[in-house]
Amino acid sequence: MSDRHLIVLNVNDSEHEVLVEPRKTLVDVLRHDLGLTGTHVGCEHGVCGACTVLVDGEPVRACLVFAVQAEDADIRTVESLSREGELSDLQQAFSAHHGLQCGFCTPGFLMLAEGFLAQRPDAGREEIREAVSANLCRCTGYQTIVDAVEATAVRRCHVQEKEATA
Ligand code: FES
Ligand code: FES
Repeated sequence: MSDRHLIVLNVNDSEHEVLVEPRKTLVDVLRHDLGLTGTHVGCEHGVCGACTVLVDGEPVRACLVFAVQAEDADIRTVESLSREGELSDLQQAFSAHHGLQCGFCTPGFLMLAEGFLAQRPDAGREEIREAVSANLCRCTGYQTIVDAVEATAVRRCHVQEKEATA
């Protein structure tokens, strides 16, 4: 008999009841039980970062977390970034700066960058380079990803300054 637990996950501002085995990872529940396939699975052992989501605002490798551990947390996946079909500023910057090629790593980088910029909104290029080095990309060479994150940081700072002086 399988040992399954009914848990409630708060994902992208919606509560989901799911019946899960304790061994099931968060990324598998997001993809297979909730149909949120924007989060990708690469290495499945914490190296590549393709599975990165935000858990209480922190970028987390969802292949290293059991779903039962994420109960009560605020989970955000890449699906939360766009609003009413419009890409977020960060997503638009990835597109404008060619921060993706095959796109497999992109959801992980977007969530990594989103979490990072929330904590370090005025980060400089070197700090951004270090932050994005947490994840693996086999296509871009990283420079364009750094460009996209840097452009987003600059843009958000300008928007904030404008709002403060309005
Ligand atoms: S799939 Fe999770 S770190 Fe690679
Ligand atoms: S764009 Fe292909 S792995 Fe990053």
